[in-house]
Amino acid sequence: MKNTSATFIEMKKRGEKISMLTAYDYSTAKLIDSCNINSILVGDSLGMVCLGYKDTLAVTMEDMIHHTKAVTRGVENALVIGDMPFMSYTNVEDAVKNAGRLIKEGGAGAVKLEGGAKVAKQVEAIVDAQIPVVGHIGLTPQSINIFGGFKVQGKNEEAAKQLIEDAKTLEKAGAFAIVLECIPRDLAELITNAISIPTIGIGAGECCDGQVLVYQDMISMFQGFKPKFVKEYANVGEIMMEAFKAYDKEVKSGVFPEEKHCFSIDAAALAKLY
Ligand code: KIV
Repeated sequence: MKNTSATFIEMKKRGEKISMLTAYDYSTAKLIDSCNINSILVGDSLGMVCLGYKDTLAVTMEDMIHHTKAVTRGVENALVIGDMPFMSYTNVEDAVKNAGRLIKEGGAGAVKLEGGAKVAKQVEAIVDAQIPVVGHIGLTPQSINIFGGFKVQGKNEEAAKQLIEDAKTLEKAGAFAIVLECIPRDLAELITNAISIPTIGIGAGECCDGQVLVYQDMISMFQGFKPKFVKEYANVGEIMMEAFKAYDKEVKSGVFPEEKHCFSIDAAALAKLY
């Protein structure tokens, strides 16, 4: 069944949990889509897990469109959400133009942008342009230079109140879902109960209406930092390395390729080549 922004709202009403994973390429998106995952986020985490940057700040609109296109080509049912990169929505005009590019050129069904009340005008304008928007509050990685690193947010009364206010403002601005990243579970529960649109948690506990993880993290494909909130569902990194080492050994010892991996030529044609 095709998932849309309306599906998300219906699922929250029915008390059904929403599953979301990131993907950045055709093959992975196709695998994820075949597993009933409701949504695929082409996150700007792309910068770290695919492009090798130390954070998400260098990711461009061109990067996001390129990878969103690859993902949408592999997806039939999941709602594909394109992430708006750093500096692509600093004003309303840029926000609408760039959100439009993720939909028209990338083929996404919705966009996500980071920030609460401060981006409410942008959210409103994008929704006015008939583009569904997902908000993102808490640890918003595009703000690491303000936060001073990847730190849990909303831990004191003032910060927690601001996040509740941000969530309500985003709902009022027309967002159809909000990602809650790295905030205390009790605060995530309060926010989830305070709004009628679904919350999608990452490091925000089990009370959120849905969960999202970076796929390389949950299958241990990414060898860098592993956050506390990530559960390892498989160690694919280990399996890949075993395969790469076996290949290296067989190539160097002449074991691979075998007869069954080779193509043949007509014997008469071959004889004429000598
Ligand atoms: O870029 C991303 O992958 C994200 C998720 C971590 C929510 O924003």
